[in-house]
Amino acid sequence: MDPALYRVVANRRETSDVSSLTLAPLKAEMAVAPPRHGQFNMLTAFGVGEAAISVSRSSRLSGRDSGQGLHTAGAGSIVHTIRDVGAVTHALCVASAGSLVGVRGPFGQGWGAEDGDWLAEGDVVVVAGGIGLAPLRSVVDDLAGRSTDASGRLRGRLFVIAGAREQAQVIFADDLARWAALGAIVSVTVDVSTPGWTGHVGLVTAQIAPAGIDPGGARALVCGPEIMMRFTAAALEKLGMDPSRIFVSLERNMQCGLGWCGHCQLGPLILCRDGPIVAYGGAVTHLMRERER
Ligand SMILES: Cc1cc2nc3c(=O)[nH]c(=O)nc-3n(C[C@H](O)[C@H](O)[C@H](O)COP(=O)(O)OP(=O)(O)OC[C@H]3O[C@@H](n4cnc5c(N)ncnc54)[C@H](O)[C@@H]3O)c2cc1C
Ligand code: FES
Repeated sequence: MDPALYRVVANRRETSDVSSLTLAPLKAEMAVAPPRHGQFNMLTAFGVGEAAISVSRSSRLSGRDSGQGLHTAGAGSIVHTIRDVGAVTHALCVASAGSLVGVRGPFGQGWGAEDGDWLAEGDVVVVAGGIGLAPLRSVVDDLAGRSTDASGRLRGRLFVIAGAREQAQVIFADDLARWAALGAIVSVTVDVSTPGWTGHVGLVTAQIAPAGIDPGGARALVCGPEIMMRFTAAALEKLGMDPSRIFVSLERNMQCGLGWCGHCQLGPLILCRDGPIVAYGGAVTHLMRERER
C-alpha cells in the first residue's frame, strides 16, 4: 500500500484541462514493476489524495521499450495523462517539474497486446473518446513499432478513431499524425466544429460503418465515457465483430487497487483486479447498464 516516490520530470500541457506528467523513480530500486498496456497506477498528490490514472506511455512496458524514446525520461519513467476534474487530478495537473508524486501499481488487466502479433490476425480497431486515448496510446505505439515492414510502413490494418468535444480538446495530435504517417487509418472527429476545423464532425460511432473494417478476425479496443463505449461496441457488433474480441475499459471508484476493499465491484467483477479492461459481450453488456454504486 506504500507509494513509491517519483519525481515529476516534465509536465506537458495537452489541452486546457489535460496534462501529461512524466515521472521518474527517485531511486531505481523504488521503481514500480513495468506496466502492461492498459494498466493503471494509483497516483498520490501528497496532502491531497490518491487517484487511479492509466499509464499513457512507459519506458519499460513489460520489459520491452515500447515508449520508443518518446516523451519518456530514461529507465523506469512513466507518463500519465490526467484530466483536471477534482482535487487530486488538479494537484497532479499543476505539479511542477521537480515535485514528488507517489506511485502504487501497476494494477489490473491490460489490453493483452504484448501477447501475439495482432495485426497479422486481422484488423485492429482502436476507438477512443477524449481522455480515453490515454490508456490506448502505448498499445498503438507498440503495435506500430513492432509491425512495420522494411520500408517502415505498417504490416496490417490499424484503425484509430478518436473523438473529442472540439479541436482544442484533441489530445496527442502529434501521435495521431505520426500513426497516420506510418500507415494507420486515423480518423478524428469532434462534437462541435470550430473555425479552421476541416475534419469530421459527429460521434465516433458514425465513423465505424464507413471505415471499411473487415470484422472477420478483427479486434477492437475501446475507451471513453461508458455510454460511448456501449454504442461503439454495439456498432462494432452490428458490423459482424465477435463481441469477445471487443475490449472496453471500465472505470469505477478505486481505493485499494488490490482487490481488498470492494469499492470497485461491478456485479461479480472486482474491476481493479478483473478489469479495467474486459471483453464486451455476455454479462459485461448487461453490467455496463448498471449505475455506479
Ligand atoms: C482504472 C482507471 C483509470 C483511470 N485513468 C485515468 C486517466 O488515465 N486519466 C484521467 O484523467 N483519469 C483517469 N481515471 C479517472 C480518475 O481516477 C478520476 O478522474 C479521479 O479519481 C478523480 O479524482 P479527483 O479527486 O480529482 O476528483 P473527485 O473530486 O473525486 O471527482 C471529480 C468528478 O469526477 C468524477 N469522477 C471521479 N472518479 C471518476 C472515475 N473513475 N471516472 C469518471 N468520473 C469520475 C466524480 O464523480 C466527480 O464528478 C481513471 C479511473 C480509473 C478507475
Ligand atoms: S479498489 Fe479496492 S477492491 Fe478494487
